Amino acid sequence: MFAVAAMADAKTKSAHEPIPMLDLRAQYAGLREEIRAALDEVLESQQFILGRQGQALEEELARYCGARYAVGVASGTDALILALHAAGVGPGDEVIVPAFTYIATADSVSLLGAKPVFADISPDTFNLDPAQIEARITPRTKAAVPVHLFGQPADLDPILEIAARQGLRVIEDNAQAIGAKYKGRATGAFGEMGSLSFFPTKNLGGYGDGGMILTNSEALDRRLRSLRFHGTGTHRYISGEQGWNSRLDEMQAAVLRVKLRHLAQWRGARQAHAARYDALLKNVPGITSPPVAAGCEHVYHQYTIRIAGSGAERDRVQKKLAERGIATTVYYPVPLHMQPMYAALGTRAGELPASERAAKEVLSLPVYPELTAAQIERVAQTLAATMREEFSP
Ligand SMILES: Cc1ncc(COP(=O)(O)O)c(C=O)c1O
Repeated sequence: MFAVAAMADAKTKSAHEPIPMLDLRAQYAGLREEIRAALDEVLESQQFILGRQGQALEEELARYCGARYAVGVASGTDALILALHAAGVGPGDEVIVPAFTYIATADSVSLLGAKPVFADISPDTFNLDPAQIEARITPRTKAAVPVHLFGQPADLDPILEIAARQGLRVIEDNAQAIGAKYKGRATGAFGEMGSLSFFPTKNLGGYGDGGMILTNSEALDRRLRSLRFHGTGTHRYISGEQGWNSRLDEMQAAVLRVKLRHLAQWRGARQAHAARYDALLKNVPGITSPPVAAGCEHVYHQYTIRIAGSGAERDRVQKKLAERGIATTVYYPVPLHMQPMYAALGTRAGELPASERAAKEVLSLPVYPELTAAQIERVAQTLAATMREEFSP
């Protein structure tokens, strides 16, 4: 009797418990033993930098992403910085990046003394619009950085075709899209180099910062290994060039190796949640669900809808959802060309309309693997009810 009452109580409670954007504690609860055993192994080895775990993770992730080589570094931002530097990007150069992405896509360019040149996105996918690239190429343009935003591949074929014709290097910002596929192949290994981020909230997230660079070039692999270690080569205390101290440590690599074993299952769960949202939100006026481009596999790092309007509607809906226990996030409220740090570059409001509109309309819903079917229904129903209030005359 008591057990039944307690169960009913737990059910009622869970029906009213807030739903967060991400529940890493729930993930950890299912992995505790594996993670602790892996960390214990590192502690017993007392090898913390550039050891067995990091090397094994590099091999496993190269295979997972269909690249010949993978080089672990200290963050996804460092992955972009080292890749751009290895591609020859430096002071005075220009690099074409989408205006709608996380700031790291562009600040890795500016940190090298080069200029990010912002291009607009395709409204459907939120990714760099290939048709926007050529008009922005100047004699100083060295590279382009397509981003696979929210886990959806950018349209790589036309980007690679333009780059080959115009002599640009292509570095994929694959921070949000590990395991995504473009025309049957994993993203991150189409360009000359591709980055990964293991920031804790990523689909494959560590317990601290971490990143990786993917490449099919043996020469780049060798150079990147040197760049992450003060420019050293075969001799540890002889540096051939200026480099960085940017390594993925063994504790992170051990955690990531455990999580990698679960990544395919998590990806499936995210995709199933997205399909359920698509179905539940299909007929809700004012909402556009994220379409998946033909030939692409989306890994839903974020499930990002649009709420039609000038931004005020989206903000009101978000606030009401929060009051009703549903967390959501606006990735990203300000496109990069309108960021204060890039004011001096001179791209003005109105110049990149698809990016500016996305910043006003996007809203990401919880889509983490541990969500239950009941939670997905609750998010969708609460959202639909809130939309009716907002949009009914
Ligand atoms: C699109 C994109 N690029 C780059 C990064 C940088 O990665 P990190 O935070 O690991 O430096 C991130 C993540 O934060 C990202 O989302």
